[in-house]
Amino acid sequence: MNKAKRQAVIAGNWKMNKTPSEAKILLEEIIPVAKDAGCEVIACVPYVDLSVALDTVKGTNVKIGAENCHWAESGAFTGEISTGMLKEMGVEYVVIGHSERRQYFGETDETVNKRTKAALAAGLKPIVCVGELLWERECDITEEVIARQIKLDLYDVSAEDAKKTIIAYEPVWAIGTGKTATAEQAEEVCAFIRAELAKKYDEETAQAITIQYGGSMNDANAAELLSKENVDGGLIGGASLVAAKFGAIIDAATKG
Ligand code: 13P
Repeated sequence: MNKAKRQAVIAGNWKMNKTPSEAKILLEEIIPVAKDAGCEVIACVPYVDLSVALDTVKGTNVKIGAENCHWAESGAFTGEISTGMLKEMGVEYVVIGHSERRQYFGETDETVNKRTKAALAAGLKPIVCVGELLWERECDITEEVIARQIKLDLYDVSAEDAKKTIIAYEPVWAIGTGKTATAEQAEEVCAFIRAELAKKYDEETAQAITIQYGGSMNDANAAELLSKENVDGGLIGGASLVAAKFGAIIDAATKG
């Protein structure tokens, strides 16, 4: 019942793939497969692709997101991009705290929290990624890990802002491995995330927040994952780079 009221969101996370000219070609393939979508469709692309991506999707239902942002408005932060820079371009969404940033680039819950608050303050919609490592799951501390990430990553984020935030549950062991969480595993953790959000905020706020699953979601497994009550969408890596596969996932989300 509540699922029907929430916005389903299918977002591609292109990671470090596609040059600007390649981005244009891929988006031109995505636009027709997304045009009848009954869900929000987003492509989160590398910074250097943002300009061409925004031009290419103009007048369509495909939205563009960035893959990160810094928390400061400006200053001596070589190599970083501010929320104001993204906002002025017309970017609407930004992925924050992806496990690859946590694993390879020293991202912590503290910096995820700062980036999330900065994105919200600038009027960007953050897609905040949480998820456990394989050994954390094996040690049976998945819920502890997720609860901690939700508390820290959304520290000092108001209920009103939390409703503008998408949470992406991405078990780290399922990313790029071809090893998808079963629909039951995905539902179990997404339901747990919603329960934590209800504890932190209230039931109404928790019910309004879109929770995505990410990790080897593809055209073959999307329908089952997306049929679950607490799985409101997907954050898709590899399969978002192939328009036909991404389109099939959009269709699965549209059918609910
Ligand atoms: P894959 O779909 O390639 O497993 O990547 C998932 C992901 O990390 C999306 O952010």
